[in-house]
Amino acid sequence: MTNPTRYTITAALPYANGPIHIGHLAGAYLPADIYVRYLRSQGREVAFICGSDEHGVAIELKAKKEGVTPRAIVDKYHAMIRNSFQEFGISFDVYSRTSTELHKKTASDFFLNLHEKGIFEKKITSQFYDRENNQFLPDRYITGTCPVCGNESAYGDQCEKCGSSLDPADLINSRSVISGNVPELKETAHWYLPLDKYQDWVQEWLETHPGWKSNVLGQCRSWLKEGLHPRSITRDLSWGVPVPLQDAEGKVLYVWFDAPIGYISATKEFASGMGKSWEPYWKNEDTRLIHFIGKDNIIFHCIIFPIMLHLHGDYILPKNVPANEFLNLEGQKISTSRNWAVWLHEYLQDFPGKEDVLRYHLTSIMPENKDNDFTWKDFQAKNNNELVAILGNLVNRMVVLTDKYFAGKAPQRGTLTEAETALQAELSNYPGRIAASLEKFRFREALNEYMNLARLANKYLTDHEPWKLIKTDEARTKTILNTGLQVVANLAILGAPFLPHTAEKIKTLLNLGEFFWKDAGSLDLVIEGQQITKGELIFEKIDDAAIEKQMEKLNRQNQATNQAVPERTVPGAREEIQFDDFMKLDLRVGKILKAEKIEKADKLLKLLVDVGFEERTIVSGIAQHFKPEEIEGLPVSVVVNLTPKSLRGVESKGMILMAENEEGKLSFISPGNEQLPGSIIR
Ligand code: 2FM
Ligand code: ZN
Repeated sequence: MTNPTRYTITAALPYANGPIHIGHLAGAYLPADIYVRYLRSQGREVAFICGSDEHGVAIELKAKKEGVTPRAIVDKYHAMIRNSFQEFGISFDVYSRTSTELHKKTASDFFLNLHEKGIFEKKITSQFYDRENNQFLPDRYITGTCPVCGNESAYGDQCEKCGSSLDPADLINSRSVISGNVPELKETAHWYLPLDKYQDWVQEWLETHPGWKSNVLGQCRSWLKEGLHPRSITRDLSWGVPVPLQDAEGKVLYVWFDAPIGYISATKEFASGMGKSWEPYWKNEDTRLIHFIGKDNIIFHCIIFPIMLHLHGDYILPKNVPANEFLNLEGQKISTSRNWAVWLHEYLQDFPGKEDVLRYHLTSIMPENKDNDFTWKDFQAKNNNELVAILGNLVNRMVVLTDKYFAGKAPQRGTLTEAETALQAELSNYPGRIAASLEKFRFREALNEYMNLARLANKYLTDHEPWKLIKTDEARTKTILNTGLQVVANLAILGAPFLPHTAEKIKTLLNLGEFFWKDAGSLDLVIEGQQITKGELIFEKIDDAAIEKQMEKLNRQNQATNQAVPERTVPGAREEIQFDDFMKLDLRVGKILKAEKIEKADKLLKLLVDVGFEERTIVSGIAQHFKPEEIEGLPVSVVVNLTPKSLRGVESKGMILMAENEEGKLSFISPGNEQLPGSIIR
């Protein structure tokens, strides 16, 4: 393969509405970082782009729930997420955010470019609306039953249980998330991207990439088989990038329209900081654009964004989208709402200095082709049996022996025996082998190869036992230690993409200079006489107590969420009325004298009610809640001056007041027996 001139590597912009967890890290950021560090070591020009996705309904809702502004939410989580990435060594060239002015301009210009080409279709449709809050209810503002799996708390855009992508109109029994009310339908205008018109183009383009991961192509093909539909790319919301048109007041771009453009805005920020042009990163055909994402983002990066880029015309298309599947935790799906997660900021507190241990374990179980499981026991075993026992042990032995026998000076290499030439021959294959796996996005395979090199060096030491040989053959001991040190130097170069903190530690121990991938594979990296400094162990055992603590914490979190009072959506107050309006209601104490079912009306009961000044018939929708014989004789509250209404052929004169909870359970508003029928309620 000829090397491209440059790479634009993006990692999915995380929503700034919560901290990030191990699933995010293993899904997108860790593979992206390993790849980028490897490319840099190969001397390739790279822009590693990321930032916070700061728009969208989820952020508005979180702000509403916490009684703060969306700005306060994104400021808090942007800082928190950025810090976690930094601590774990995710080496972005820029970590931007989509609430910047630069992004608003970039996204607006992109929209206008397509608008001016006449690509969008403007349609007036009826959308759900919450009258109480004067607000349309797009995406996550509406909840209801999923028509696919029956999950009762699916959202307007997606069911999190079965993963189906939904439209608000698909939901059964939909309710406003803000008020809990049944929404009304109201007409509104929106701009649609007619994806169906570009189905053939995108299909053909995708098929020019047979080398993409099969999980990615498989998902795309099944979307295309279903057929693409026009997708609305604007929303009636206040938080977001305003639609840059005259007739679009109160409308913003759909978050999934603006977010991927965020990659371009962030590249502009990066390039301007470096005093260079951003355009080659997005416009030159010899730039490789690669998106690292999790599987829930495939359709946006492999179908919708490429269509947007193609229609715009000035931009290159992704060369690859190596999406990962999901990581589970202790056999269960990671869940933010159930707090079933390992949060990065908490890991950093619980395991300070062990960032590379998590990087190592997550890479070794990366869900590259299918979902995989993280368990704390495996995490402990990987640390103790591999990082400590293989890599740590090798580095430690080399440093300690050099210190002990040769006062910390790298000893001279004498005549090489067959053992060294064999080791040298094997070693020279490793850089190419690991590189080949990384170029194919096979991170687990690459890491395994890397560890095999440490195993090989350990075997070489164990076979030749320099700690015994020192007593009889100092020259040979020198050669063995020199060779061992050279392999350790190789492990620092080849391990830097996976274990950047550890690679730095090894470089410090060995006093190594700046080396690149091309330097690896050689036994001439450590110079004779070079000072080798004894330092702290690069890895330490993790004991059972630390693991038990994590398991207890998980179970505690889980129990707390299970026992927590379910979150309530109490409707806010309705529009204000004047006292005189209230006084128009004639509310009285009544007594149910008789109750009976109405034929062919499951929900209705016909009641004879004593309201003091007369006995009257009232039809009430309570048949599914009360048996007629249960309620005869009950004191109730009645609106007695409602215009009579005929229900199922029975004239109803008034209304019985009831209270209804979130589950729809009804209770009477009873004035008690001390009030006689006809008493005024006020
Ligand atoms: O799924 C998510 O977390 C989205 N915020 C990813 C956006 S990726 C890109 F398009 F910005
Ligand atoms: Zn579902």
